[in-house]
Amino acid sequence: MNLSYLDKITNTKALAYIGFILIISKLYKLSKLFLNLFVIGNYNKNLSIYNNNTKFKYYALVTGCTDGIGLEYTHQLASKFYNVVLLSRSEEKLKALSNDLKLKYPEGDFPYYVLNCNNVDSEQQEKLSNFIKSFPLSVLINNVGLSHAMPVPFIETPQDEWRSIIDINCTGTLAITQAVLPTLKKTVTSDPKLRGLILTMGSFGGLLPTPLLATYSGSKSFLQNWSNAMNRELLKYKIDTNLVLSYLVTSKMSKIRKSSFMIPNPKMFVHSVFKNLNNKGGAISKYATCTPYWSHAIYHFIIEEFFGCYNSMVNLINFKFHLSIRQRALKKKAKQV
Ligand SMILES: NC(=O)c1ccc[n+]([C@@H]2O[C@H](COP(=O)([O-])OP(=O)(O)OC[C@H]3O[C@@H](n4cnc5c(N)ncnc54)[C@H](OP(=O)(O)O)[C@@H]3O)[C@@H](O)[C@H]2O)c1
Repeated sequence: MNLSYLDKITNTKALAYIGFILIISKLYKLSKLFLNLFVIGNYNKNLSIYNNNTKFKYYALVTGCTDGIGLEYTHQLASKFYNVVLLSRSEEKLKALSNDLKLKYPEGDFPYYVLNCNNVDSEQQEKLSNFIKSFPLSVLINNVGLSHAMPVPFIETPQDEWRSIIDINCTGTLAITQAVLPTLKKTVTSDPKLRGLILTMGSFGGLLPTPLLATYSGSKSFLQNWSNAMNRELLKYKIDTNLVLSYLVTSKMSKIRKSSFMIPNPKMFVHSVFKNLNNKGGAISKYATCTPYWSHAIYHFIIEEFFGCYNSMVNLINFKFHLSIRQRALKKKAKQV
């Protein structure tokens, strides 16, 4: 094609305009990221929205509350005057936690409900629904989750492992949410100044297709779309739905004990969730989603804005990272035999 001198100038100008718009849009998003993380987040204000600034009047339900991130959600909610319904599978741990909380917050109420989230059937769902009816519940924290024992190719993943991951992360979470929703809706409707919240733990494992954690990755990506889709349905009831994205956090699940700048402990992580709940943190281009911890947020921003979550190079790096974890885990296992 033979371009005239005028055409060439026009094309160069058009490219310069497009480049300029792209740079401005990235700079706008970058400034939003820093504002979100370091200026406008407000822990106390965000937590007062869902109990309307009352003391131990409203309830939150936390699933998988006896350890790790769930335990920390429970403590931080109780410290901000929420009664907490404790839900997990081990009765002894639940009883001990309920007693501890009662000693620390004598005005609060901390009932517990024993449920193995693996295989929640319709009868169990109805039982939970009936139990919850007696509490003015305004917050649901869908925290319970299971990952692979170690990174593993899908072809070698034991069937009971991939089934449990789907049962707990997906089926269990949906069954609990559906059991709780009518009560949540009723509570919020009864107080014109109150909003409701459903917060669901997603993961970078779901944000990025993660080789060697394929089932976990798929289950968290399922929760991401489910939670985001439900957000629109529930806004008319004044119920906010937030999907929380996290890279590694020290816990039993991650098998990491020492925190670092990329790996917070549950206390630091949950504080960042409540602080950045309504401003998305680093999930600038995502709807009803929050990447709250500052270093995770910057990491998310760089991947999504500069490469793309489905980028092949990002996927290869992710694969190599999990392959090295698998190789170390296999060596450790071999030594133990
Ligand atoms: N840690 C991370 O690096 C990380 C990163 C991204 C996302 N996440 C997500 O964050 C959430 C919490 O993770 P975590 O690291 O805090 O996990 P964790 O330390 O393993 O704690 C899991 C909690 O869930 C309970 N639980 C496990 N299986 C259950 C079942 N079948 N039925 C009922 N309760 C059950 C456990 O109770 P017991 O005490 O009885 O075992 C415990 O209270 C998960 O959804 C996870 O996917 C974690």
